[in-house]
Amino acid sequence: MAGRTRTTKKLAQRIDRNYFKNRFAIARWRQYLSLALTAAGLIWLGAQALANRQTPYSSGPIAVPHAFIGNKCNSCHAVNTSFGKSVTDQACSACHSGPVHQKEQTFQPACAECHLEHRGATRLAQTSDKACTACHGDLKTKSVTFHVAAKIKGFDSSHPEFTPLRTKQPDPGTIKFNHQMHLKKDLRGATGNVQMKCDDCHRSNTFARPWPYGQPVEAKLVDTGVLRAPHSRLSNRSYMEPVEYNRNCSACHTLMFDKRIKEPAPHTEPARVRAFVIGKLQEYIAAHTSEIGLPEETEGRIPPRVPPVPAKNAAEWVQRRVAQAETLLWGKTCKECHSLGFAAGDNTPPVPKANLTTRWLKHGNFDHPAHQMVVCSSCHKQAATSMLTSDVLLPGIKVCQTCHHSGDEAASSTCSECHQYHDWTKEEFVEPKLTAARVFHLPSLTDVSKWQ
Ligand code: HEC
Ligand code: HEC
Ligand code: HEC
Ligand code: HEC
Ligand code: HEC
Ligand code: HEC
Ligand code: HEC
Ligand code: HEC
Ligand code: HEC
Ligand code: HEC
Repeated sequence: MAGRTRTTKKLAQRIDRNYFKNRFAIARWRQYLSLALTAAGLIWLGAQALANRQTPYSSGPIAVPHAFIGNKCNSCHAVNTSFGKSVTDQACSACHSGPVHQKEQTFQPACAECHLEHRGATRLAQTSDKACTACHGDLKTKSVTFHVAAKIKGFDSSHPEFTPLRTKQPDPGTIKFNHQMHLKKDLRGATGNVQMKCDDCHRSNTFARPWPYGQPVEAKLVDTGVLRAPHSRLSNRSYMEPVEYNRNCSACHTLMFDKRIKEPAPHTEPARVRAFVIGKLQEYIAAHTSEIGLPEETEGRIPPRVPPVPAKNAAEWVQRRVAQAETLLWGKTCKECHSLGFAAGDNTPPVPKANLTTRWLKHGNFDHPAHQMVVCSSCHKQAATSMLTSDVLLPGIKVCQTCHHSGDEAASSTCSECHQYHDWTKEEFVEPKLTAARVFHLPSLTDVSKWQ
């Protein structure tokens, strides 16, 4: 019977004995692709090199403020495309002054230890705590003496309490003031009873809103006493403007001195107040000569210091009224707020310096606008009950730690959030060296059309 014969020989013939000489599709494509991609990579690198870009060798994106030199590796790296620890402080100093921290410090860390690059940081000034605690965790000073706590490991229990609370020094201000009394309900105001708010006397700048209890007064620029970083987020809005008589008190505490004169005395040093009073009274009596001979009447609660016989002439009339006005002003009106060393016959008693503190924490930053969502009383708890100027109404470190701590849903607690590192009073002038053409790859500075 003729049929299919399945001999081993025939079966073997089906197998291609040269199979290893041909390549399978997958392997073939793998090779084509790797060749093509390598070629593409080389072409791209070549193109980058032709365009003078070294980005492909970078270890990560350059910080946002440095993006404009992100491509010019040699701005920071000593030698083009030579990487590793090639960044020197001199490279940074070509464009920046980075003044020293403390003359007491035992060594000087490199710029790049704190200002970490290639992480695409939006703010390079936001440095990590490691660089600070490397010293402050166990502080050494050249003179071996310390002015600050020697072991600060973070913004935690190892961080010192703020100076005014730690030293318990009283508020050095000399303006008498009772917060509790002024914040009570139905306080007698100039035109009816009022409920005062903190914001009636304390604002971080004068915005455009009027002051309810005084005259419009031009804003003073708050002098915070310490130079800050060139691009610090702090400004003269950060601290409260000091209270001012004209702006905050004058509506309720007027400086009237004689019922015949409709104008209050100016709020200034006694010699000028006295000159103003004399001038006004002379003007008055010149216009009302018939009043010279009228008998004296006593002024309110002030005991009559002048004899009850009529004045002989205008000069004597003025002299008597001035004496009365001075008794009222120096002895009562001004004295309500100032400790005047007033002795009878003293025409111009000295007024002590007001000594209002505009910046309490000289070695730590604070910014009121950054905390404007928080009610005043949650930080200044004592204000509502304070009766004396000498009370210090500032929050202690525990209050800050409720929000500024490590972990999620917390405000930043890195040292650089609240502290200056560089002593910006020692900032040096940086000689400009680059042309715009060099920075922006432009052919020539004279070709202004390419500038835009
Ligand atoms: C604004 C300055 C700056 C520019 C511009 C810059 N770098 Fe850097 N780069 C640094 C700093 C700082 C370091 C950290 C060096 C150190 O630790 O001392 C660094 C580190 C590196 C490292 C890692 C080296 C190591 O030891 O970990 C590489 C790679 C690198 N840079 C490549 C580049 C390339 C490529 C470019 C250009 C595309 C570039 N950098 C541009 C500042 C810069
Ligand atoms: C070619 C000039 C140049 C070089 C080199 C340079 N910078 Fe800058 N840097 C700038 C400019 C421009 C800005 C943005 C404007 C500004 O803040 O002064 C800036 C911004 C900064 C800032 C502020 C960023 C922020 O948080 O807003 C810091 C910090 C800084 N540079 C540190 C360094 C350090 C550290 C080096 C050396 C590794 C360095 N720079 C090298 C030009 C330079
Ligand atoms: C121990 C950490 C540390 C070192 C080292 C350091 N800085 Fe700073 N730098 C800071 C901190 C924190 C700030 C932000 C607070 C301040 O201004 O002091 C800052 C701010 C700056 C700023 C201003 C940023 C701005 O826009 O306000 C510049 C510029 C700067 N540093 C440059 C340098 C240069 C240049 C060096 C090296 C000579 C250097 N820094 C070394 C921590 C450091
Ligand atoms: C190289 C060591 C060193 C580093 C790094 C260092 N400090 Fe200091 N710091 C000192 C010394 C020394 C003093 C002076 C201590 C004294 O006089 O008792 C000091 C004082 C201070 C003071 C108090 C005095 C003042 O004028 O403000 C603060 C706040 C401070 N450092 C914050 C920082 C912060 C924030 C950092 C990190 C960005 C930092 N320090 C990094 C050594 C260092
Ligand atoms: C939330 C804000 C905040 C943070 C975060 C913070 N501090 Fe302070 N720190 C302050 C304030 C405010 C003071 C009080 C300054 C004063 O009394 O003049 C202070 C005081 C200090 C002092 C003593 C200064 C003196 O003259 O008495 C040192 C040193 C100090 N801090 C270092 C650090 C270090 C290091 C870190 C990071 C580990 C840090 N601080 C984190 C706010 C902060
Ligand atoms: C009628 C104006 C007025 C009002 C309203 C007022 N203050 Fe004052 N405040 C002053 C005067 C004046 C001083 C300076 C004398 C002193 O230190 O007591 C002062 C000082 C302060 C100080 C700094 C002095 C220190 O010792 O800490 C703080 C903080 C303060 N006030 C918070 C508040 C808060 C919070 C409120 C609202 C609950 C408030 N004040 C309402 C007038 C006012
Ligand atoms: C209702 C309270 C109040 C009365 C009343 C008052 N002052 Fe003042 N005085 C202040 C306040 C608040 C300051 C600090 C801010 C300012 O200059 O307005 C001050 C500051 C002064 C200063 C500047 C002190 C310094 O620091 O050098 C002089 C001078 C002065 N007053 C004189 C007078 C004289 C004179 C009178 C009376 C005619 C008077 N004051 C009445 C509240 C008062
Ligand atoms: C809204 C009106 C009003 C304003 C604004 C005002 N005061 Fe008064 N003040 C009063 C009243 C009302 C009294 C209570 C007078 C009395 O009963 O003898 C008073 C009393 C005082 C006393 C005496 C307190 C005592 O314990 O006897 C002082 C000091 C004083 N004020 C200071 C100030 C200063 C400083 C300012 C501005 C920063 C100011 N006041 C703003 C209404 C005001
Ligand atoms: C998150 C806490 C916090 C809040 C909220 C806050 N303060 Fe302060 N305040 C402070 C600290 C801290 C200081 C000390 C700052 C310094 O002088 O160094 C201060 C200082 C002051 C001073 C003294 C002058 C000055 O600027 O240093 C006055 C006045 C004051 N605050 C009023 C207010 C008023 C009014 C509010 C509400 C509108 C308010 N504060 C909200 C923390 C706070
Ligand atoms: C109710 C929560 C809260 C409290 C209490 C608080 N902070 Fe803040 N603070 C914040 C927030 C939110 C920010 C802004 C976001 C951030 O920087 O994390 C901030 C920002 C800051 C900044 C940076 C401001 C700027 O503009 O650069 C400083 C400095 C600061 N706080 C200091 C303090 C000090 C000192 C205290 C204690 C007297 C304090 N904070 C208490 C929530 C708080």
